[in-house]
Amino acid sequence: MDIIIKDLCKSYGENTVLDSLNAVIGKGKITCLMGPSGEGKTTLMNILMGIEKADSGAVENMPQNKSAVFQEDRLCESFSAFTNVKIANDSLADDTIISHLEQVGLGDAVYQQVSTLSGGQKRRVALVRALLAEKDILFLDEPFKGLDEDTKKIVTGYLLNNTADTTVVMVTHDIDEASALGADVLYLKDGKITL
Ligand SMILES: Nc1ncnc2c1ncn2[C@@H]1O[C@H](COP(=O)(O)OP(=O)(O)OP(=O)(O)O)[C@@H](O)[C@H]1O
Ligand SMILES: [Mg+2]
Repeated sequence: MDIIIKDLCKSYGENTVLDSLNAVIGKGKITCLMGPSGEGKTTLMNILMGIEKADSGAVENMPQNKSAVFQEDRLCESFSAFTNVKIANDSLADDTIISHLEQVGLGDAVYQQVSTLSGGQKRRVALVRALLAEKDILFLDEPFKGLDEDTKKIVTGYLLNNTADTTVVMVTHDIDEASALGADVLYLKDGKITL
């Protein structure tokens, strides 16, 4: 079933961030959440994930098993790329983890300590970790942050190849990314979805 967001409100003190927001997120589809900085995209994602509480309103049909790339990487810096993926889902075969890291261009960095990776390399580790975790819905908050155009293309292909029939909610500032993913677009402005 599609996820239905009904009359969601969220304020921080005097700052009204979500103002009776309504939206539908299609089951098995990719939905891109767009809108200017500071308008509440991450706040909405956090409410959908259950990390933050809305002041009022409802979210219906949200699946139980959630996986995420947060706005920050939130990796275990002293562990390798491989171990970061493994600890999120220890039923994974080692070959699967290595293959996925290779698919995003991290074949040479599989056993490298995360603290020694570049920003864009860390971002890809976070993406593989989220994608290989057990889940019914995937939340991605600016997953391509720090990637150059060529790497972005590789990672877009990786995402498309590995999210068939998965419900994905992704924050991006780039309409071309949304188009490349064939995503539905929700535009957040003044506390509401306007598109
Ligand atoms: N924990 C918090 N306490 C107080 N205010 C907050 C908190 N989290 C977010 N805000 C405020 O809520 C508003 C929306 O923030 P949010 O991080 O959701 O924006 P965003 O759309 O994700 O922006 P960006 O594109 O820059 O990531 C901002 O005005 C921010 O200052
Ligand atoms: Mg944000």
